[in-house]
Amino acid sequence: MIENARVLQPEFIPGEIKHRDAETSHLSDALNPLLHGEAGETSFLFGPSGAGKTCVAKFTVNQLQENTVDVESQYVNCWENYSRFRTLYQLLDGIGKTIDIHRQSTPTDVLLERIRDYDDSQYVVILDEVDQLEDKSLLYDLYRIPNLTMILIANREESLFAPLDDRLHSRLSSSERLHFGQYRVDELTAILADRVQWGLATNAVERRQIELIADAAAGDARKAIGILRTAAKKADREGLTEITAEIIDESVPEAKSELRQKNIENLTSHQQSLFEIIANAGEINGKTLYERYCETVSSPKTKRTMRNYLSKMEHYNLIAATGKTQGKTYKSVGEAAESTAKPR
Ligand SMILES: Nc1ncnc2c1ncn2[C@@H]1O[C@H](COP(=O)(O)OP(=O)(O)OP(=O)(O)O)[C@@H](O)[C@H]1O
Ligand SMILES: [Mg+2]
Repeated sequence: MIENARVLQPEFIPGEIKHRDAETSHLSDALNPLLHGEAGETSFLFGPSGAGKTCVAKFTVNQLQENTVDVESQYVNCWENYSRFRTLYQLLDGIGKTIDIHRQSTPTDVLLERIRDYDDSQYVVILDEVDQLEDKSLLYDLYRIPNLTMILIANREESLFAPLDDRLHSRLSSSERLHFGQYRVDELTAILADRVQWGLATNAVERRQIELIADAAAGDARKAIGILRTAAKKADREGLTEITAEIIDESVPEAKSELRQKNIENLTSHQQSLFEIIANAGEINGKTLYERYCETVSSPKTKRTMRNYLSKMEHYNLIAATGKTQGKTYKSVGEAAESTAKPR
């Protein structure tokens, strides 16, 4: 049944994007000066998980590069590369300038200098999950590099802007901001129909079943594609030529649990410690959580950083929080609870 597994992978960037015309053209307008050898506008993409932020950013940069030869680009996931050094290293890698850089001994300033010295072409960089960048002052340094254009992606505007100092705040406040909402069922249906057409055998799934999947995905395209992938694999394994409603029913919890597992694996070691402390406690207040966290890890981060981590986990539905900033209580969200959680 699966003829092209690649189009069912979460990293796949389609050649055509559905229902994000406004966002794509807004971003491409911001990048337009690059076609004339000038830097583009800094852009921010905000929105919930699975709303198409990463997809739109990569797609638009790909399109730009099809229209000009003079622009270099790089994608950096700042959740994986959360330190100043690691993000800078990835940026240097994008222009092939990591020679002689040693992970242990090269001072971070040398990396920044090298990016500043680069003037062969315009450089557009996507900094994804940028709210997880430890040292946000890096954004200020990058902002000041004349031939560098930034596309910054985060879930919530507040979680990115709150920790910024005034200087950076005022610079960045004039940037382009794009807010992505959750998809409607008919929009997810259209996105899924494309994947079905590109990836599965003819007549492998009826429209009615595609709608069932879209409905179960609660506005999240990643979830929708995940359910389709799980269902197709399951049908294949069972020797069926069609994805039935029954297969979909079984695939929904499986796909959600797989996604949840992936999200847990993506947590950094400090975030995993916090996640485990919360899971073991069942429910815990912020103060006790911070104390236990400090006892568990060597060189703990500040309370503010801990809150930033927690809001990321909340965003991915791994934990739930109640109460206001200082007096918050955290609970782990079980798999069963997650699958019935309301879209946010
Ligand atoms: N409008 C769209 N058209 C086609 N495919 C889409 C569209 N939006 C999202 N997708 C697909 O859905 C999946 C999730 O999208 P994406 O990774 O862009 O979400 P995101 O907003 O970056 O979420 P997160 O905050 O979790 O990173 C990807 O596989 C992407 O290719
Ligand atoms: Mg993303």
